[in-house]
Amino acid sequence: DHTPHIVIAIDGPAGAGKSTIGKLLAARLGALYIDTGAMYRTVALKGFRLGVIRPDHPPEPLIPEQEAQLTQIAQATEITLAGDPFHLQVFADREDVSSDIRLPEVSRYASIVSAVAGVRSALVAQQRRMGAEGTVVMDGRDIGTHVFPDADVKFFLDASVETRTERRYNEQRARGIECTREQTRLDVLERDRRDYNRAVSPLRRADDAIWLDTSTLSPEQVLEKMLSLIHHRLTLA
Ligand code: DC
Repeated sequence: DHTPHIVIAIDGPAGAGKSTIGKLLAARLGALYIDTGAMYRTVALKGFRLGVIRPDHPPEPLIPEQEAQLTQIAQATEITLAGDPFHLQVFADREDVSSDIRLPEVSRYASIVSAVAGVRSALVAQQRRMGAEGTVVMDGRDIGTHVFPDADVKFFLDASVETRTERRYNEQRARGIECTREQTRLDVLERDRRDYNRAVSPLRRADDAIWLDTSTLSPEQVLEKMLSLIHHRLTLA
């Protein structure tokens, strides 16, 4: 097929607004929205259920055997993202895991699991295949730096720790998850530390990514800015 495929990469730390904005953007562009964090979360959930990751002892550092098992899970699990951007469903071997993967402990495990090189290469291969299917908006940590270094437009969304904590806190409360602001803040900081400092594909802004601070902007304001930047970049291309 000869329709031009456009890849929009959105990276940034937890709570910067990537998924809210990514969904709005995909809807406006008629693009496929791909939440790569959901894929790492799915591997983490399975790893937890199979007893590879245990909550009752310090989970880090992982031992080579755990890394091998997690890699195997990433390779063997059929992860499917279905539905439109606003009703996204995530399946692991046909089981709907959409709500379980959002639990706060799974966020933590996902950040641990995503440091495993074998897990990353299995999921990245899958993400590259998904990105070849059409125009996509892909959200993650390494999309502009590693998954699609040649993406048509790259964004790096960021926001203050206070803003990101507040967003995460409200999101979790809206899902009926018990949590405190302080615990949420510590979770956000712990994830930042891991995501920015891991050896393989750490979170960082690609040299050619557009940096946007969303702290004081509404989703609609961020969306309008991004649409005009996309328009600008694509007409110049
Ligand atoms: O975006 P999220 O909170 O759903 O991501 C969960 C974890 O997965 C996050 O802490 C880091 C990891 N991740 C990653 O390493 N690379 C990606 N492309 C997406 C997520």
